[in-house]
Amino acid sequence: MIRSLLRRRRAASGLPVPDACTPGRHALATRRLLFYTPVTKLDVWAAISAGADPDAQRWQGNQADQVISDADTRRALLHMGPNGATPRWFIRSNPEAAEPFEPSPEMPEFMVCVRRDTGRYAGYFELDPDKGEIGGNIAPDHRGQGLGTELFLAGAEFAHGHAGLPTVRAGTATENLACRRALERAGFVPAPGPARHTLPDGRQLDTVWYQHEGTASACARP
Ligand SMILES: CC(C)(COP(=O)(O)OP(=O)(O)OC[C@H]1O[C@@H](n2cnc3c(N)ncnc32)[C@H](O)[C@@H]1OP(=O)(O)O)[C@@H](O)C(=O)NCCC(=O)NCCS
Repeated sequence: MIRSLLRRRRAASGLPVPDACTPGRHALATRRLLFYTPVTKLDVWAAISAGADPDAQRWQGNQADQVISDADTRRALLHMGPNGATPRWFIRSNPEAAEPFEPSPEMPEFMVCVRRDTGRYAGYFELDPDKGEIGGNIAPDHRGQGLGTELFLAGAEFAHGHAGLPTVRAGTATENLACRRALERAGFVPAPGPARHTLPDGRQLDTVWYQHEGTASACARP
């Protein structure tokens, strides 16, 4: 049903796409991606969808109620974007999607990303500023095109140039070659860290750690 509705002629929703940091919110761009602190609930739903598929969950093991479990819903959300890529009828039928998302100081810093060419959602990264650790996902249709490298480049730039951290770390499953390679391509180098990680679903994975160094500074955010 959602897919057949998506085939209807689109009228753009006009949801905002920030392009600069403002108090409490961030924005940054890489060659093909635009990252910003989510503005609406739709931004958050799309980000969750980017890492909720079985291939991503293999490495993340979130509890089922923490992810959007219906594959058609995920695909429909990831077909959208904050501006011209979301049809107005969708917002009319799901008004909650346009409700504002308010970042909270207790949450990790969290940036959704859209492709600059299509305006569609492509993934997200998050940074725990207390631990200085990042993680993230590229949505299934966008994997294997070098965007994971851009994601981690953006994560490092964000950590150093927006969150003011001279060092940012990332841990991943030893067997997750795509993630390891994307981190390495983004300039992360091997670092010491815990050799095992227990996922929320109880599985344990062997892990490797990386870090990225840079000059710490703050962005426009006070
Ligand atoms: C991990 C992830 C972010 C990588 O992003 P991506 O866009 O798929 O990766 P890229 O296209 O930037 O590829 C980066 C490198 O990994 C390699 N690579 C990609 N997929 C691979 C795979 N399945 N196996 C081995 N290497 C792979 C690419 O060839 C590239 O190396 P190269 O530059 O030497 O050619 C993305 O695949 C993803 O979100 N996966 C699902 C969830 C996940 O693993 N999240 C990260 C947890 S740390």
